[in-house]
Amino acid sequence: MITLGIDIGGTGIKGAPVDLATGELTQERFRIETPRPATPEKIAEKIHEIAQHFNWTGSVGCGFPTPFYHGKCLSGGNLHPDWTNVHVEKLFEKATGLDVHVINDADAAGLAEMNFGVGVGKKGLVAVITLGTGIGSGLFFNGELIPNTELGHLVYKNKPFEKYAADSIRKKKSLSYKKWGNRLNKYFQRVELILSPDLIIVGGGASKYFDKYQRKIKINAPIIPAENKNEAGIIGAALASKLAKN
Ligand code: BGC
Repeated sequence: MITLGIDIGGTGIKGAPVDLATGELTQERFRIETPRPATPEKIAEKIHEIAQHFNWTGSVGCGFPTPFYHGKCLSGGNLHPDWTNVHVEKLFEKATGLDVHVINDADAAGLAEMNFGVGVGKKGLVAVITLGTGIGSGLFFNGELIPNTELGHLVYKNKPFEKYAADSIRKKKSLSYKKWGNRLNKYFQRVELILSPDLIIVGGGASKYFDKYQRKIKINAPIIPAENKNEAGIIGAALASKLAKN
């Protein structure tokens, strides 16, 4: 079965058809810049554009980068305040005329890792933490997703941790990997204190240069980079649409 997976991020929107038996992209992925302001209408247009690019007529799975509950966006986060309370699934279905299933982006990335990446067969409590524009989390127990966790919103110095330790903050403040690694260490220590996970998988754009900050992170749980790197969001979103139908 092949489903179109789309990953909406703070900087780019990426899509590709995914073979759900293997987790592989069947065509080259198509990427467009996230429009700014990232309002519901503008993003919906881009989802339509991606579906058209692939002449898509089947189901679509979409990863969405905000707190999310039963198809509705709870707050605009790194996109735009106008998203608050928008029923994202209904909006995208109207824009594309297709059957669309929406899931939180980090939950999607986690699904990809647990089913096709380094998380395969991993039991116990696994936290997939994505480091990108924000910090997202996908939590799994014995391989099953516990949806909608928001571990990037743990508070540090009166702000969400993601405003202190996301990869976008490293770039914005030109932090060295050493300095950023120290911030990440505080973050992962907090995650460990709260969850006592058996494994942490680091996903998102920053999983590509994991070796640059890895040694700064001093926690008890094993911590490893994701395998699907940039494509995890696409693969997991496509997979989520199939799981939703089962
Ligand atoms: C949002 C999460 C999202 C993460 C990564 C955070 O700001 O609250 O829902 O998963 O960014 O995009």
